[in-house]
Amino acid sequence: MINFEIKNLKEYHENYSESVENPEVFWATIAKENFTWKRPWTQVLDWDFSIPNVSWFKGAQLNITENCIDRHLIINGNKTAILFEPNNPNDPSEAISYKELHKRVNQFANVLKSKGIQKGDRVCIYLPMIPELAISVLACARIGAIHSVVFAGFSASALSTRINDCDCKMVITSDGGFRGAKTINLKSIVDSALMDCNGIESVLVAKRIHSDITMVRGRDFWLEPLLEKASDECEATVMDAEDPLFILYTSGSTGQPKGMVHTTAGYMVYAAYTFKNIFQYQPKDVYWCTADIGWITGHSYIVYGPLLNGATTLMFEGVPSYPDYGRFWSIVEKHKVSQFYTAPTAIRALAKEGLDAVTPYDLSSLKILGTVGEPINEEAWHWYNDHIGKNKCPIVDTWWQTETGGIMISPIPNSFEGKPAFATLPFMGIQPALMDENGNEIKGNSVEGRLCIKFPWPSMARTIWGNHQRYKETYFSAYDQKYFTGDGALRDENGHYRITGRVDDVIIVSGHNLGTAPIEDAINEHPNVAESAIVGYPHAIKGSALYGFVTLKNSHDLTDTLKTEINELISKQIGPIAKLDKIQFTSGLPKTRSGKIMRRILRKIASQDTSNLGDISTLLNPEVVDTIMKNSF
Ligand code: PRX
Repeated sequence: MINFEIKNLKEYHENYSESVENPEVFWATIAKENFTWKRPWTQVLDWDFSIPNVSWFKGAQLNITENCIDRHLIINGNKTAILFEPNNPNDPSEAISYKELHKRVNQFANVLKSKGIQKGDRVCIYLPMIPELAISVLACARIGAIHSVVFAGFSASALSTRINDCDCKMVITSDGGFRGAKTINLKSIVDSALMDCNGIESVLVAKRIHSDITMVRGRDFWLEPLLEKASDECEATVMDAEDPLFILYTSGSTGQPKGMVHTTAGYMVYAAYTFKNIFQYQPKDVYWCTADIGWITGHSYIVYGPLLNGATTLMFEGVPSYPDYGRFWSIVEKHKVSQFYTAPTAIRALAKEGLDAVTPYDLSSLKILGTVGEPINEEAWHWYNDHIGKNKCPIVDTWWQTETGGIMISPIPNSFEGKPAFATLPFMGIQPALMDENGNEIKGNSVEGRLCIKFPWPSMARTIWGNHQRYKETYFSAYDQKYFTGDGALRDENGHYRITGRVDDVIIVSGHNLGTAPIEDAINEHPNVAESAIVGYPHAIKGSALYGFVTLKNSHDLTDTLKTEINELISKQIGPIAKLDKIQFTSGLPKTRSGKIMRRILRKIASQDTSNLGDISTLLNPEVVDTIMKNSF
């Protein structure tokens, strides 16, 4: 993989200028020199943000798994591709070489075919962080089936919504999963989800926790016996550059989750190139991203990016607190991890436990540290830098999104310094713009605005599955000819970006994107709830936490049991990650004269920042504000 040689800021600017002045030449050179194509492209880029339509490498044909696996076999066949570290530290870790990965992906792909899965079919993957998860993702890609991985922490209801939205034909799951001291019964969640799904023809079940589960005859199949019988040769299906590779759901501020569609060639080129240059991967390194493959970070930077580079990628099944808060650092020591990529929420949680959990471990193998998913506060950045990186590892604070497919703004190690809480400078080819409230671009430095991107990049999502209109409205309608990220950002005096947070009704809790509308919908299902509003407020560990203001139909029902019931409903509809941290019962919610809830006021109350609530006299019911404030936490 091409590693651009940037040794200082001047060279960054030279390379960056080239990438934005001649993007087609820039990306075509990378694409040509670093990947295996079955047919070259006829057009590098075709785009129009007003439709919106974007295609990269039109006319080209390829299969991403040949680029992830087959081409490494001759030189790196025996190199470890996936290093699996189980939940229980006393269980052995498993090193899967490129050769073995090739066989296991092919066997799995043949099982998919034997169950009638064809190119273009959607396959839902609902698995814990075990090797079968990465292998099933690659097996889908091998035969051109579109994978839709659903994070295994989502509830049955959230799972069925996602299965139905993209008409999946198959679900791949396991009898259960281990997460710290807990076990999760995934198969029973799948069983209840499937009560609401008509299109599923088969369910493949991997064995992990050896629990008793119900198998539905003719629909459910244990995976292992099928794999044993399957051939380990499977020719890779020829894919067009713009054939969908996967769908991944992300929360929106309103309505159902959005199935972001990523396509094959552009995603491949960008995921691989960013991985190489941001993590500066060298052949003997062991790279570890602690995310779950159920999120985009896991797709791009546990599976595709690393494997495209022939890297060794570590997959961890467990949680940072099990069996104790030293687990991450014991794994770094055990496997001599070189690059470590995690979320600020994990850093804050681990920092809180003190240095006793860190100092016993040898972290000298670390070369580069990364963060992703939410803004990192300066305190956490310094703790990470001082105690984990020992002041010698560059920190890459990488800003990006499910929609962007790959890292968009990030420091590039050893070429310019990171700055606490700043994602710093755009990656090659990325053209950010800050916009003001009137829709004009704010030029110059030391400014703040809404973050847009004004030129296509190879790994951008091409549409929302089944709803191109929503894609257009969500991302391309706020600002003419620009992709709107939903984030606010500032650009400092040196042109470095700091992401200030969401400007819509998405709240990022412990690095997970949560839309307020689906949570409110879940609460409103309670028979005693009249209406509700969810806002975020600052939280020392989670970054943001959820505060629910709930109006009841009968105020004499005010009980703690009701609070528990509300959180149970949320858990059932979405998953435990969306449970509220605080619930306040209110006699009413502040509304505009047109009946819209004034979330701005609720946000301030939840954040205990009530010195300036602005003009509330124009509200329909200004009197409720005082009462809410008095009763707030
Ligand atoms: O608000 C930004 C925040 O996470 C959002 C994207 O979330 P998701 O699609 O789940 O993808 C997360 C992993 C790529 C963004 O709109 N975000 C992500 N990275 C950062 C961040 N906020 C600040 N700094 C970051 N490094």
